[in-house]
Amino acid sequence: MPHLFTEKLDLIETPSQNNGVEFDFIAKSYNIAENRQTEYKISSKINNKEFLLNYRDKEDKYLLKPDLVTRISPVGLLKNALNAYVDSTKSKVLSSNTANIKIRDAIQDIYLKDINYFVDEFKTDKEIQIEIGFGSGRHLIHQAKNNPDVQFIGLEIHTPSIEQLLKQLHLQNIENVLVVNYDARLFMEFIESNQVGKIFVHFPVPWDKKPHRRIYSNEFINEALRVLKINGTLELRTDSRKYFDYCVELLTNLPKGNITIDINKDLEVSSKYEDRWKKMGKNIYDVVLTSFNEDLPKNIEKDFSFDKKLENLDLFDTLPRKSMVFDGYFVHFVNTFKILGEENSGLLELTFGNFDRPVSKYILIKNGEISYYQGNPIPTSSNLNAHKKIKELIYS
Ligand SMILES: C[S@@+](CC[C@H](N)C(=O)[O-])C[C@H]1O[C@@H](n2cnc3c(N)ncnc32)[C@H](O)[C@@H]1O
Repeated sequence: MPHLFTEKLDLIETPSQNNGVEFDFIAKSYNIAENRQTEYKISSKINNKEFLLNYRDKEDKYLLKPDLVTRISPVGLLKNALNAYVDSTKSKVLSSNTANIKIRDAIQDIYLKDINYFVDEFKTDKEIQIEIGFGSGRHLIHQAKNNPDVQFIGLEIHTPSIEQLLKQLHLQNIENVLVVNYDARLFMEFIESNQVGKIFVHFPVPWDKKPHRRIYSNEFINEALRVLKINGTLELRTDSRKYFDYCVELLTNLPKGNITIDINKDLEVSSKYEDRWKKMGKNIYDVVLTSFNEDLPKNIEKDFSFDKKLENLDLFDTLPRKSMVFDGYFVHFVNTFKILGEENSGLLELTFGNFDRPVSKYILIKNGEISYYQGNPIPTSSNLNAHKKIKELIYS
């Protein structure tokens, strides 16, 4: 992480600009939680990308570094901002690791899509097929090559696997795959109803000791059935007898789908994991859920607006600082900051949403107007529920 130490804590006048970096405001921590020390957040912008720098004292020196929640890539932009800030202050820099900036323009990979793309833009007339946890990508590539009229979406959370697949997609010039680094348990929420032909879940991590981390759950199955067309299938393949039993129990007697079960069925393509288990003589279990129901279109709610302006920042003194747990989501106000030299303006640092995939964000209050710094959260149902609760707490 780039950072530098200065001799003095030197705060500049804002708004100002230096070397292509805009500094919009500086906010100072207010009413800080126990075990946190005074910090300053410096709102910075390069090429319209905004982020915060964090400035605080550390052992007789002052440490300036990017704020973890809002940091952007490539890292060269952050180094640039740190250097531009201290250049504006004329503070003496005691040490730094911000030299050697190589600003590589982030290469927009044509296959790799941000989750926001699926929230705001993604549309297709083609049938969709989804592979969850594609690993080496062997099965996904095989399917994509053999079904050129299908739009495939590959979901993974392991970056080296994603990079390996992207390389293969480029090398083999495959055009019908999109890749997203996102938790499959939450992804289906952004897909229209009745559009998916197949969902493959091959050799998911069994999570015997932490079953709540499993891909399959009642919520996941309901969302899968919603996005599946009539006769569309959710296909589990696993070597884990425990996972198989768990899924059979979840999938039996559903009102919208029925299951078929197989043992040691051969597929046209065998994955890396499958090869390993077969060599060890393990059984391979298949459970295929077929949807027989047409679902209503999903109205994907995206409203993260705030209803009215704040008259003052008195709530900074009263907001609860402990994590608050509700039905399926939580809200935790972590810290508050007041913007220097501006009335009724500040930052609220918070984490919220789903327990397994919490979101960390800042809420920006500028002259009483409230919005999410760096844009709205992803509209998962837990984030939307958390947002409603946040509004209630802010306005109460
Ligand atoms: C045991 S590997 C199997 C890989 C591949 N399907 C195969 O058969 O070789 C499980 C994969 O699922 C991915 N994974 C685990 N949890 C996930 C989640 N919640 N969302 C998306 N991918 C996930 C892991 O990163 C890992 O690559």
